[in-house]
Amino acid sequence: MAENIGDTMGAYYDQNLLSDITQRINILDVVADTVKLTRKGNRYWGLCPFHAEKTPSFSVTPEKNMFYCFGCHTGGNIFTYVMKRDGLDFPEAVQVLADRAGIQLKKGPLRKEADRFKRVVEVNKAAAAWYQGVLKGDPGAAKARQYLRERKLDEQTLERFQIGYAPNQWNQISDFLFARGFDQEWVKESGLIKRNKSGDSYYDLFRDRVIFPIFNYQGNIVGFGGRTLEDAVPKYLNTPETEVYLKRHHLYGLYQAREAIRKGNQAILVEGYMDCLKLHQHGIDCAVASLGTALTSEQAQLLRRYAENVTVLYDGDEAGQREALKAVQLLVEQGFNVEVLTLPEGLDPDDYLDKHGKEEFLQYIQNNRVSYIEFKVKRSIAAENILDLQGKIRIVNAVKDDINNLQSSILRDNYIKMLSRLLKIEENLILKEIEGNTGPGQPYRKNKIPANRDTIQYGNYSIEEKILASMLNDRGIAEIIAENIGIECFSSRHYNRLAAICFEMGGDSGDSPWEWQQAVEDEELQALLARINTRWDKGFRVNHAELWYFIRDVQRQRYRARWRNLHQRLEHLRTDGGFHTVLRLILDLDTFLHQTREGGIK
Ligand code: UTP
Ligand code: MN
Repeated sequence: MAENIGDTMGAYYDQNLLSDITQRINILDVVADTVKLTRKGNRYWGLCPFHAEKTPSFSVTPEKNMFYCFGCHTGGNIFTYVMKRDGLDFPEAVQVLADRAGIQLKKGPLRKEADRFKRVVEVNKAAAAWYQGVLKGDPGAAKARQYLRERKLDEQTLERFQIGYAPNQWNQISDFLFARGFDQEWVKESGLIKRNKSGDSYYDLFRDRVIFPIFNYQGNIVGFGGRTLEDAVPKYLNTPETEVYLKRHHLYGLYQAREAIRKGNQAILVEGYMDCLKLHQHGIDCAVASLGTALTSEQAQLLRRYAENVTVLYDGDEAGQREALKAVQLLVEQGFNVEVLTLPEGLDPDDYLDKHGKEEFLQYIQNNRVSYIEFKVKRSIAAENILDLQGKIRIVNAVKDDINNLQSSILRDNYIKMLSRLLKIEENLILKEIEGNTGPGQPYRKNKIPANRDTIQYGNYSIEEKILASMLNDRGIAEIIAENIGIECFSSRHYNRLAAICFEMGGDSGDSPWEWQQAVEDEELQALLARINTRWDKGFRVNHAELWYFIRDVQRQRYRARWRNLHQRLEHLRTDGGFHTVLRLILDLDTFLHQTREGGIK
């Protein structure tokens, strides 16, 4: 898996080799191959090679062997730099840099996992090219070409997404791949061939289908979808899940869309291959599709690397809208700002574009997208058979937390008015329902911690980043955090991982960059570290007040989460009040109240 290549960065080669390379080559020289750098203080600045810009926001810190761009937030070390600049994977980047340093690499087998991934990707790449060739030139593919014309996919789209055709025969791709010398093990692993019942021969998985290669975000083909030209079942056949291809980790179209998504800080999420392709074809190139499963949290996290805003655009039918609601929940949990667009007459985006064209589509988006809260309310209303009082209460409860979490009181007020209008209940009653039952004292308002993706503005760090940088610089701060709320107190997995590494390494870590590079094994963490480094290298420390504000805030949030949990259990007791359940609740309540009185909530 590509993810594995990232994860195993450190383990790939022995540490000595990597540190040898970084000692012999200065990241400044490598960057200076293509970027003109100017020195300011202990950093060097230039125009970013990873996005278009007029004023330099790309920085290099040579003594930490790091780079970071404040414009597009790309960052990492010398290895990731070469990977990104030259489109290489990690072993290739190591090779390039080792050559440059004049170090001879011992030729050994690659690590097995990464090896497997690489082999299967090679098979897939060759297969995709072959399928593509068949679509373009084979007389037997005439009806596929005809079909794609009818579906209004143009040449450019077919090319960009490397769409192909698998002929209606049993042993074409297998013959081709074996003739090309690919090892049976890897061809099998690719899922492109299947063993027949008697187990003595293989046949092609895809026959008489249009082939849609599925790229991972780095552009490696990890799987395929194949659509029937007629009405065969299933409509789409997909590469089976293997160790190399886990579809919950990928988004169709992300590779082609990621620059546009990053630039616009915005993605459009659709359900189908066709929808995604059609949007791209019409120049709406921030579209990705979820690969026929319900959206997964892995997919949401992946997308979160590129944008904060997402528009969910699922099929207009009932099933599509139900799926949309689930996707919305998940995306909100991952910290996205979510809007939803519902298409009329049960159309999907592909149908809509065919029928009405791009201009009308854009117009439609403008006029009809709604915030996810509004969408949720409307869906909940649609889900109630008759809108009686109980139903109305359920609806208010379904969006209570979402509304309470809003920071703007104008927005809160707006939704309370909306609920009042739609449910025909007085505003102040809605307000009471929303503010009640959320814990003692003030209504619960989550202090929305800015997520991972930093703001465009230079120097705008979230409190979490400031805390992390301070922990790196000052063991004392790390210890205060550990004692009061535990090291893993951040809102994102990556922050927590960094904090844990920081703690494990012990001591002030500012002057052992190399050890850090080693400990921080994955690409995304590297980027995060590079960003935090911009504080870290100035010896930054949060002031006392900020530190304690953070600690109290985390405690408050945990406290409220627990309170809500207890409250929910109380609710359950009304229906399911077994002796043991009651007893356990009482015991928990006792501990809870006890701790609260002493003020210690961990
Ligand atoms: P749709 O049925 O909406 O497909 O399924 P679509 O993309 O609009 O395709 P056309 O327009 O009929 O050609 C949505 C997605 O669900 C997955 C595919 O990823 C598809 O794009 N799917 C659907 C399957 O994997 N297998 C199926 O049999 C059907
Ligand atoms: Mn469709």
